[in-house]
Amino acid sequence: MSFLEEKRNLQEAYIGHPSGVYICRMETKSTINRNTSSELFRKAKALFPGGVNSPVRAFKSVGGVPLFIKEGKGCRITDEDGNTFIDFCCSWGPLILGHAHPQVQEAIFETVRRGTSFGAPTRLENELAELIIDNNRFVEKIRFVSSGTEAVMSAVRLARGVTGKDKIIKFDGCYHGHVDALLVKAGSGLATFGVSTSAGIPEAFASQTIVLPLNDLDKVEDTLKKFADDIACIIIEPIPANNGLLLQGREYLLGLRKLCDEYGVLLIFDEVISGFRVGFEGAAGLYDIRPDIVTYGKIIGGGMPVGAYGASAEIMGKVAPDGPVYQAGTLSGNPVAMAAGKATLTELLKPNVYKELEKKTNELVRRVQGHAESRAYEVKVAHVGSIFWVSFSDKPILRADEIDPKRMENFKRFYAALLEEGVYFGPSGYEVGFVSTAHDKDALDHAAHAISSALDATFD
Ligand SMILES: Cc1ncc(COP(=O)(O)O)c(C=O)c1O
Repeated sequence: MSFLEEKRNLQEAYIGHPSGVYICRMETKSTINRNTSSELFRKAKALFPGGVNSPVRAFKSVGGVPLFIKEGKGCRITDEDGNTFIDFCCSWGPLILGHAHPQVQEAIFETVRRGTSFGAPTRLENELAELIIDNNRFVEKIRFVSSGTEAVMSAVRLARGVTGKDKIIKFDGCYHGHVDALLVKAGSGLATFGVSTSAGIPEAFASQTIVLPLNDLDKVEDTLKKFADDIACIIIEPIPANNGLLLQGREYLLGLRKLCDEYGVLLIFDEVISGFRVGFEGAAGLYDIRPDIVTYGKIIGGGMPVGAYGASAEIMGKVAPDGPVYQAGTLSGNPVAMAAGKATLTELLKPNVYKELEKKTNELVRRVQGHAESRAYEVKVAHVGSIFWVSFSDKPILRADEIDPKRMENFKRFYAALLEEGVYFGPSGYEVGFVSTAHDKDALDHAAHAISSALDATFD
C-alpha cells in the first residue's frame, strides 16, 4: 500500500470489525506495556473515526495500539504507561528544537498570560513576519494561516487568481495536505488528468489536476506544450518527504523553474516540511532557486498550529484585502502561536544551528548505513539536512513508483523492534525521521545502536 493510500484508507482498517476492536498482531512479540494506551484507544474509537484525529497516528500500517503520549522533554517522549522513547517523529517535523524547549515554552506562557486571541492585529504577527522576511530572499510579503493544508490551498488559489488559469501540475510522491484538488493521483493512459484518491472529491475538481512522475523533465515539458494555456502552476515539494525521501537533483528543480518561466506558469514550492528545516530559507535557499510562491507550516509555528504562504510583494498584492483573491481565517496570526514561532525561528537564526543538525544527522546515518552494509542488508538511508529516511531498497529511490511495496512490509518488523529498543519513529515506512537540536550525543549513540539492532531483528 502506498503512503497516500495509507493516508486515505486508514479508516477502512476498522471496517469488517463490527466489534469496533481492531485486531492487528505485532510481527514481533511486544514487551512494552500498553495497558493505558489500549484503554485510551478503546475510548477514542468511540469518539473519533479510527480513534484518531490525524489518521496516520492510528498505527494501522505497523499494527498494534497507538501510543498515547503524556509528555515530551528534549528529544524524548513518554507515553501514558510510562515508556520513554527517543523521538525521531518530532510531531511530524515541527519540533526542530525538541520538546518543551525552554525559550519556546516561556514565550508561550508569557503571551498566554495576556490573552489567547483578539481578532485584531498584534505586534507578534509583525515580529514573526519581519524575522522571516529579513532572513529570506524569496519572500517579500507573507500571510499567516493555521495549517500547512490551508497554506497550500491558499497558494494554489493565488496562483489561479494571478494567472487566470485553472489547471495545476503536481507530482506523484508529493503530499500537500488534504486540499481537494491535491488528493489526486495520475489518470490512466493518455488522459493525464487526475483521479481523486479520496471519496468526496468531485471529478470536476480532480480533473483540474495533472499528476506527473518526479525526476522527469520531459514529461513536464510535454504537458506544458499541450496545456500551458490552461495551467496556473506547478506545485512540488522541492524535497519530497512524504512518500519516503525522494531527493531530486538541483538540475531537475532548476529545469522546472526554467520551464515555468518559458510557459508562463507559476512555480510553487511546498516547503511545509523543508522550510526552516534544511536551512532558514528552506529548500529554495539550499538549491538557490526562486519559487514564485512558497508555503510553510510545521516549524514556522514552533509546535503550535501555523502555516503561511509568501511571495513577491507584487504577487501577494493580489491577496485580499489588497487584491481579488479572497482568503481569511479567524485564528490566523494567533498571538500565542506567533510567539512560539518567533521563539523557534530566533533560535534557528543563531550561528551554526543548521550545520550542527546536519553533522549529527550525517553521523547517525553513517552509522546505521555502515551497519546495514556490514550485514549486506538491502537498506539505503536517504538524508538531507536533519531529515532522514530508512528505505528497504538496495539503491537510492527518486520516484514514488520505485518504492517496492513488498519490501515496505519490512517496516512493520522494524518498527516493532524500534519501539522495543526505545526509539520512536512515525508509524509508517513512508514517513521520514527528523533530528532536532535536542538530540544529544548520548541519545544519538543509543539511537544508532538501537536502529542497527532493529534492522537485525527485521532481517534475522
Ligand atoms: C509538504 C506538505 N504540505 C502540506 C502538508 C499539510 O500540512 P498540515 O498537516 O499542517 O495541514 C504537509 C503535512 O504533512 C506536508 O508535509
